[in-house]
Amino acid sequence: MKKILIINGPNLNLLGTREPEIYGKTTLKTIEQALKEKAEKLNVEIECFQSNIEGEIINKIHSAKNVFDAIIINPAAYTHTSVAIRDAFSSVKIPAIEVHISNVYSREDFRHNSLIAPVLIGQISGLGVDGYLLALEFFAK
Ligand code: DQA
Repeated sequence: MKKILIINGPNLNLLGTREPEIYGKTTLKTIEQALKEKAEKLNVEIECFQSNIEGEIINKIHSAKNVFDAIIINPAAYTHTSVAIRDAFSSVKIPAIEVHISNVYSREDFRHNSLIAPVLIGQISGLGVDGYLLALEFFAK
């Protein structure tokens, strides 16, 4: 059975109450529950991880080597700043997709650049919570 790791970065633990006009009212717990239900239907195993700390996210990516077949990550604000998370993906070479709930290209200029997406398979931006589920479907194939 394929194993897929889902990583959510800083401030995403506050989904539901954080800027709902941008990110909606769905909590991270609800997103993770929807992913678990979808994973069962698709016959894949998932693990969900959230951290506000860059180093913890990097450690999690390192520990995924030889354990997980793919990673779905919303690096949140680290998308736009973290050379270290990009280098972690380049090091472990696990296929990964970057997901953003909001359309980062319709927002402030500093959100238009991802340091991480160029070393991943691709990016889903602006499809809300469905972005995570679509990435899961892609990897379950
Ligand atoms: C986000 C977009 C980022 O620019 C922002 O810093 C986030 C959330 C999104 O899911 O739309 O925290 O990754």
